[in-house]
Amino acid sequence: MSVPSADGAPTTLKPHGLGKTSRTDAWWLSPGITLFVLSLFIVYATWAAFQGKYYWVQSQYLSPFYSPEIWGNSPHSFLGPVPTWWPRFLPFSPALLILPFPAFFRFSCYYYRGAYYKGFWADPPACGVSEPRKKYNSENGWPLKIQNIHRYVLFFAIFLLAALWRDVYDGFFKQPMANGGVGFGIAVGSLVLLANTTLLSFYTFSCHTLRYLVGGRRKCLSERPAQMACYNCITGLNKKHMYFAWLSLFSVMFADLYVRLVAMGVWHDLRIL
Ligand code: FES
Repeated sequence: MSVPSADGAPTTLKPHGLGKTSRTDAWWLSPGITLFVLSLFIVYATWAAFQGKYYWVQSQYLSPFYSPEIWGNSPHSFLGPVPTWWPRFLPFSPALLILPFPAFFRFSCYYYRGAYYKGFWADPPACGVSEPRKKYNSENGWPLKIQNIHRYVLFFAIFLLAALWRDVYDGFFKQPMANGGVGFGIAVGSLVLLANTTLLSFYTFSCHTLRYLVGGRRKCLSERPAQMACYNCITGLNKKHMYFAWLSLFSVMFADLYVRLVAMGVWHDLRIL
């Protein structure tokens, strides 16, 4: 529909109603893919977290969903088996103690918010496409106010990265040897964990919040060359944050699947060196 504007030129009004738009391109494709992939990830991660088994392979591999393992039956456990005081009515899996932190880090990520607000609750479904509500509520009210916790969860994410790099070390330096001990070796599993942790590191260190923490509060960064160098580095990574977000989502899912299938004996972990 066209109406005359103040200068007399016709102006096109946005049609009202969910999904109504004058756009003619496939605007629904991107939110549709987001909805499908994130749903797949949530279902898989929840299923994997509740399994509580097949999450490690001897002393060399530990699934990233279970790392660091605080209590558990694997050789990777920090504090040994589940304590006897653990309430019997509560389900136990080492992943349930850890996974909420990286899950919330992703859930509150500025990039993902923009993507899943469109995909999951059409707020709006896409640019220039009408939504089912009349006003934009933003994140000023509950429950979405909780998204502001992202800046704090970032520190947990960095701590978890340290644990994942320790697992990468194990993947290379605790490979089984012919004499029955462990030592340096390279297998496909070592490379899978390395690739996953690298992508997770890029994702974490390209975070918008981290960029602000490193250089956002200063009026003149050039007076501090070291800080400026860190800021520029994070800014460079930040430009690719969306790619790291998706690639690391797939890699963490695949790393868990890989460890799981090797632990179950379905896949053979090919030794390269
Ligand atoms: S903004 Fe995406 S991880 Fe912080």
